[in-house]
Order: sequence, then C-alpha cells, then structure tokens
Amino acid sequence: MSTDLDKLHAILQNATSEIEGAQNFHDLNNLKSHFIGKKSELNDFMKILGSLPPQEKPAFGKKINDVKVAIENLLQIAEVRINSSIYEQTLKSAMFDHSMPGRTFAKGSLHPITIIQQKIEDVLIDMGFQVTDGPDVEDEFHNFDALNTPKDHPARNLADTFYVENDVLLRTQTSTVQVRVMENYKPPIKIISPGRCYRNDKFDATHSPVFHQVEGLVVDEGISFRDLHDTINDFVKRMFGDDCRSRFRPHFFPFTEPSAEVDISCFACGGKGCPTCKNSGWIEIAGAGMVDPNVFDILGIDKEKYTGFAFGFGIDRMTMLILHVPDIRMLYDNLVVTE
Ligand code: PHE
Repeated sequence: MSTDLDKLHAILQNATSEIEGAQNFHDLNNLKSHFIGKKSELNDFMKILGSLPPQEKPAFGKKINDVKVAIENLLQIAEVRINSSIYEQTLKSAMFDHSMPGRTFAKGSLHPITIIQQKIEDVLIDMGFQVTDGPDVEDEFHNFDALNTPKDHPARNLADTFYVENDVLLRTQTSTVQVRVMENYKPPIKIISPGRCYRNDKFDATHSPVFHQVEGLVVDEGISFRDLHDTINDFVKRMFGDDCRSRFRPHFFPFTEPSAEVDISCFACGGKGCPTCKNSGWIEIAGAGMVDPNVFDILGIDKEKYTGFAFGFGIDRMTMLILHVPDIRMLYDNLVVTE
C-alpha cells in the first residue's frame, strides 16, 4: 500500500515537472493522455483498486482521484500559460502591425435641420428669449379657435390639416405655443418655440407634410410694430451677417394685425440677384405681426394694457438656403446625397 502511495506521489511529481515545462498544445495533449488517459499509470491504479480489501478502497480511491484532479488543474494552468504566450508571440511578430489604424465605422452627426435650429435658438436666446415647448398633437382650440381663425377658414379643411380624431389634430403651425404660453403666463412674455408642424401637403421639391418652425412671441406694455421690426432686423444680422437687411411686405394672418411677410436680402448675392433668390435679391423667411387684440380677449389678457408681436420662421427653408439643399425631400429621406 505504501509503495502504491509512493508511486502515486511520484506520478504527480513527474506530471508537475513535465506539464509545467510544456511549450505547446501538442505536447500538452500528449502529456494529458500520458498522465490521465486510458492507458496511463493512474488508470492502472483504478484496476488495482478493485482488488483491494473493501475497507481500504475509499481512502485509496480518494488518493487516486486527488492526484487526477491535481493533474487536471496543472493541465488547465498550462493551457492558460501557453495561450497567453502564443498571444504575446503574435503581438511581437511582424504579422501584427500595431500601428495599423483601427476599423472605422460611420459616425452619426446632427441633422442639418437640427444644426440650423440650434443656431437660430442660440441667436434668439442671446437676444433674451426663453425657449418653450408645446405638443405636436393639438386640438382645434389651440391651433385655430384661440388664434382667431374663423370656423370656415380653408386651413381647417381636411385637405390642409391632418386630423387624428374629432377636433384633435397635428398642429399646422407652432403658433399653438403662443396660445399655450398666454394661457399659462402673465406678461411680460418673451419666448420662442421651435418644433415640428404638419400639413396635408404632397411631397415635392419645396413642400413636405412635416416641416419645422420657430415661433416667437413678445407681450408687454408698450410693445410696438417698431419693436417687431427691430427684433427681426437684429436677428437677421446676427444670423446672416451685418450686411443682411430685412423688409416687410403686408400680409394677412388671422391672429396678427397688422401682419407681414418678412424677406431678407439674399445672403448669397447680397441682393444683386442669383439662383438662390431666384434673381429677386430677396428671400422670404418668416410671417410676423402684432398680436390681434381678439387673441388677447380669447386668452384673458388685458388688451388695453398690453400689446405684443409674434413671428414664425420656417427652419426647413433656411436650412435649404444656408446649406444649399436643392430639394426639401433630401432632408427627409434616407438617400445618401454624394454630390
Ligand atoms: N403661423 C404662421 C404660419 O405658419 C406664421 C406666423 C407666426 C405669422 C407668427 C405671424 C405670427 O404661416
């Protein structure tokens, strides 16, 4: 029995020095079958086990198993060691070029509309406006009624407005946020509200059923048309440069009186006439006007005490002009434009 134990001990010692010295997986596999395989000395001990007296079997069986587990552990450690040395050799070999740049992948970037919207916001924030937000899904009250829009106004038509159900609709203008702000805050008010708008338009080069506006609203005592003009003029100079001029053309909006459409001198040609401004020297960028006293009445603001102005810039159009995007669909589809 004690000679058997010595033999077991000798096997383990032998296995330890051989396995620790193994340099590759081929040697390691051979050592594995040599020490714990079917034809190994250790396996022969299993056969001896059968012939031992029953009271010696468990203790001796455990010894054999201990040696087997110890050898398995040695094999595992050696495997890790060989693996990491192969890895290091690969790193050192000329086959592996450390200086090679990593694989590049397509990076995301801001959408052009977002870039221009952020620029417009930055300019208006610098001018003292606070940014507010309103829902895209609105009701007729905020989109039309409170904005003094008659019940039979064509804009309310299904052909122009996307209705969700009954009087629930996708807002056709960010002017809805004017209403929400005046409902909830007392003057002085000086806000802008950028966001998406929806109209039942077919896609073509200049129309999209979804587009973006930035609404502006100022309400306080003594606000005049002159303030509106100065604000717009200040904005266009900050946005497009000191040489940029603005002009107002009379227009009509149900919720402003008087109303105007705002043009700026073409920033591409300085007003001489070019393809960007279709040779007119001017580019339309906004609707604007003085808040109609009827709107104040509807929203419970004292029209004797307060006056105000509002404006709405079209962000998509500005994006197209500034970034030379010839077709609005390019801003909404997934085609990669390579030109
Ligand atoms: N909401 C108007 C439009 O969509 C633009 C506008 C905003 C006009 C504010 C006047 C004042 O055309």
